[in-house]
Amino acid sequence: MRNDDIFNESKLYMPGGVNSPVRAFKDVPLNPPVIKRGKGAYIYDEDGNKYIDFVCSWGPMILGHCDDDVVKAIKDTSENAISFGATTELELELAKYVCTTLDNVEMLRMVNSGTEATMSAVKLARGCTGRNKIIKFAGCYHGHFDDFLVEAGSGVMTEGIPGSAGVPEDSVKNTLIAKYNDLSNVEKIFEKHGKDIAAIIVEPVAGNMGVIPGDANFLKGLRSICDKNGSLLIFDEVMSGFRVAYKGAQSIYGIKPDITTFAKIIGGGLPCGAYGGRKEIMEKLSPMGPVYQAGTMSGNPLVMAAGIATLKKLHDNPDYYAHLEKLGAKLEQGIGDIAKKKGINVVVNRCGAMFAIFFTKDSEVRNYEDAKKCDTSLFAKYFQHMISKGIYIAPSQFEAIFLNVKHTEEDIDKFLEAFSTFEV
Ligand SMILES: Cc1ncc(COP(=O)(O)O)c(C=O)c1O
Repeated sequence: MRNDDIFNESKLYMPGGVNSPVRAFKDVPLNPPVIKRGKGAYIYDEDGNKYIDFVCSWGPMILGHCDDDVVKAIKDTSENAISFGATTELELELAKYVCTTLDNVEMLRMVNSGTEATMSAVKLARGCTGRNKIIKFAGCYHGHFDDFLVEAGSGVMTEGIPGSAGVPEDSVKNTLIAKYNDLSNVEKIFEKHGKDIAAIIVEPVAGNMGVIPGDANFLKGLRSICDKNGSLLIFDEVMSGFRVAYKGAQSIYGIKPDITTFAKIIGGGLPCGAYGGRKEIMEKLSPMGPVYQAGTMSGNPLVMAAGIATLKKLHDNPDYYAHLEKLGAKLEQGIGDIAKKKGINVVVNRCGAMFAIFFTKDSEVRNYEDAKKCDTSLFAKYFQHMISKGIYIAPSQFEAIFLNVKHTEEDIDKFLEAFSTFEV
């Protein structure tokens, strides 16, 4: 079947034809290509088109598609172990990898998605502190857990209102919304609610309003506000973990979160999530402590095998991160130069192998309000142009572009070539 036939028929059986909304390409708007296979930096659709993939499954495929070692690990494991719902040595191996890599993770609990990781981390923080309120930042995304689905309307920035139908107001009444990269805003919220705040959850490098790296002083400030008030600091490194650096964003900033959440890369492309932190915090989890969290599929052997193969390869090849940085810098510079020459107003934000091009007249994009000012119809035009040239990027102004280690300088040249023929 052809792309359009599959997508149109999918709409009869799946809401919007998809299993996750952004895949529907509604904002660009186009029918999405239906992906048949991927190898290395490239993906191929059912019509036989080839694309250079800059989505990388929204981050996990840092080694590129169907990396030989990851495929072998999955195949070999599947001969003997698909699912037991019981303890395996593979779980221990992955947990040890993460705990010995990240200074701030002494113990780890595996789950099945980033959403599960962040919602469980918040529950754990609430269980540890006996408090209910959390602070999340406008424009940060932590998955589809009700408590996080708060839209930050300008007039109600600090008061939670539901951002999705089906979320009871009660679910978000404990969610306080703060402005990203604005410490004084967080301080004000703490002045009023400090004693009730269990945790601040933050993407240290925000990747869900485009890419906006946190200011070092902002993130350091969050650490000291939490210390002062007895609240926990949760770094959501679902996207940035093992991507912006092997040891995550926390290693770049030199900040110690109390709890860190992971997903994406840690599962090597299979469904996965995890959260970890200091021993005394993690031991509050059932069966050791009173915070109940469980999962039939958690620590699944195939996922563990894919995760171990991925982390091991990243660990054994530290030059990968230098390669990603080199390509990222080339792309950033190239886009800036081309945009300037063509008179297109853009801001490029980047942290290592994740970056975003914002179509905006502003000189910087530092928070959700800045990001919202971008010209989304111009983005749609740019997107349509890029995909017609075989450059597969996320179909939204508010998503990140990802690099993987199989991308070459030639791939970056092709991206830049395509961008240089974009007419506003
Ligand atoms: C920072 C962050 N946290 C949490 C999530 C939710 O992860 P998942 O889609 O695996 O539930 C995402 C998803 O993109 C994310 O980027």
